[in-house]
Amino acid sequence: MTRMTTTAGAPIADNQNTLTAGPRGPVLLEDYQLIEKLAHQNRERIPERVVHAKGWGAFGTFTVTNDITRYSCAKVFSEVGKQTDLAVRFSTVAGELGAADHERDVRGFSVKMYTEEGNWDLAGNNTPVFFVRDPMKFPDFIHTQKRHPRTNLRSATAMWDFWSLSPESLHQVTILMSDRGLPVDPMHMNGYGSHTYSLWNAQGERFWVKFHWKTLQGHAHYTNAEAAEIVGRTREGYQEALFGAIEEGRFPKWRLMVQVMPEAEAETTPYNPFDLTKVWPHSDYPLIEVGVMELNRNADNYFAQIEQLAFSPSNKVPGIGYSPDKMLQARVFSYADAHRYRLGTHYEALPVNAPRCPVHHYHKDGQMNFFGHRTGAVDAYYEPNSVPGAAVEDPAVAEPPLRISGDAARYNHREGNDDYSQPRALHDKVMTDEQRARLYANIAEAMAGIPEEIANRAIAQFDRVSPAYGEGIRAARARLAGALQAAE
Ligand code: NDP
Ligand code: HEM
Repeated sequence: MTRMTTTAGAPIADNQNTLTAGPRGPVLLEDYQLIEKLAHQNRERIPERVVHAKGWGAFGTFTVTNDITRYSCAKVFSEVGKQTDLAVRFSTVAGELGAADHERDVRGFSVKMYTEEGNWDLAGNNTPVFFVRDPMKFPDFIHTQKRHPRTNLRSATAMWDFWSLSPESLHQVTILMSDRGLPVDPMHMNGYGSHTYSLWNAQGERFWVKFHWKTLQGHAHYTNAEAAEIVGRTREGYQEALFGAIEEGRFPKWRLMVQVMPEAEAETTPYNPFDLTKVWPHSDYPLIEVGVMELNRNADNYFAQIEQLAFSPSNKVPGIGYSPDKMLQARVFSYADAHRYRLGTHYEALPVNAPRCPVHHYHKDGQMNFFGHRTGAVDAYYEPNSVPGAAVEDPAVAEPPLRISGDAARYNHREGNDDYSQPRALHDKVMTDEQRARLYANIAEAMAGIPEEIANRAIAQFDRVSPAYGEGIRAARARLAGALQAAE
């Protein structure tokens, strides 16, 4: 028998009946069991993530299949065949915790690798670029995706107003409105680190890097109409698909690939390689294989292991570094700050976030500290100290210096930036006629009901990407208006 107890460990005799004065009540204040039960229920919810609230996760392994030690001394890449445990969480961006899974949106694609030199988090998306390139615009962009303060409804007008005034968003909007904006499930989509990060090798040479997770299940997408039909049946289609596949032993896999740029070349590319609205063309920087990720274990408890998962771009390990990308710099601050608010000061000590290597630091005390201090010695609680066994710094893992220069100023990120060539390549060269037709129809649908002035301003931007793009949207809008009139 597994005996029920209070949280303090005392056995419980009756979990059915409240302690009352007489069979009809009232309830006695000393029924602490009841009070504890109600109080715990009141505290079952924590704040949901301010973005990417709805998500699906699992656990698995990363296996190195190709040697990239000439670029990085990160232990996770140290030898072919090496395996590292990992956790993954996929998500949509805009919807709240209860949102339907099959909504057109960018998907989050976050991987936490429990390496022997600490946790390496690659919190990316299923798109290689993003809507904005300056972090000053991130909260504004997110406000357009969330609810209107008065109507409490999401607003297509706000989205297109912002996008039409922010041409840097054209590339990502094109991807969002293409087939890739509505994958059938998390298994049938790529992931991208999106930002430029850096790698450094044992000789201290730095390389710029882009990370790509290529789905080995193949790409598969729904149209808006197919998704609407599915949402009518189930709002939890991604959870069902991912959880179900892993329970049945159909383990999804992705191949990790990198594009690598020698440090000095960043000065010579025709585009800013640290601009998050741009990709590096494959013809200039071919994909290099690194390894394979397999997801093979479901969480035993969704809240403890997926809701409490905390990813942060600040979690990097020796051999992997940041880049000057302004967005990445802001994210390095933002995530750990969000976790301290959402999960608490010691969120990194929660089992799912805890590194699988020794942890030694001099942060002290704080709410819910269940581990004492972690300096390696009882008497050491400051540094430097002369206490035997106390943790000390290790200069051997120092990152090579990052070469930067320039005057401090607020540089206009829209000046001298080509926002059109890369979405043009996607529209004109990568997409087929059928994909373009669906793209136009999706944009027309997404624009339904917005003021003409905003629609025209947005379409003028698509004209600049490619005249055929703007024309295609106009024609799709006319068809949609005709269909709506006919239906009336
Ligand atoms: P390539 O022809 O070498 O690559 C095209 C890429 O586009 C492939 O990676 C493909 O992904 C991806 N793709 C196909 N359909 C879509 C879609 N609807 N939405 C987003 N991506 C899609 O060309 P380039 O490298 O010269 O890039 C041309 C354009 O392709 C870029 O401007 C960019 O818009 C897009 N792209 C480029 C990527 C890059 O890192 N270079 C990455 C993703 C997109 P897959 O191989 O998985 O099928
Ligand atoms: C989640 C901030 C840009 C991918 C979050 C969260 C915050 C945040 C605060 C919630 C974290 C939590 O409570 O757990 C920002 C800021 C950005 C930015 C300030 C820009 C300045 C991006 C970009 C990407 C991205 C460019 C992708 C390349 C994600 C993902 C999650 C997330 C995948 C969910 C992580 C998870 O599954 O727990 N972001 N974000 N974000 N963000 Fe961003």
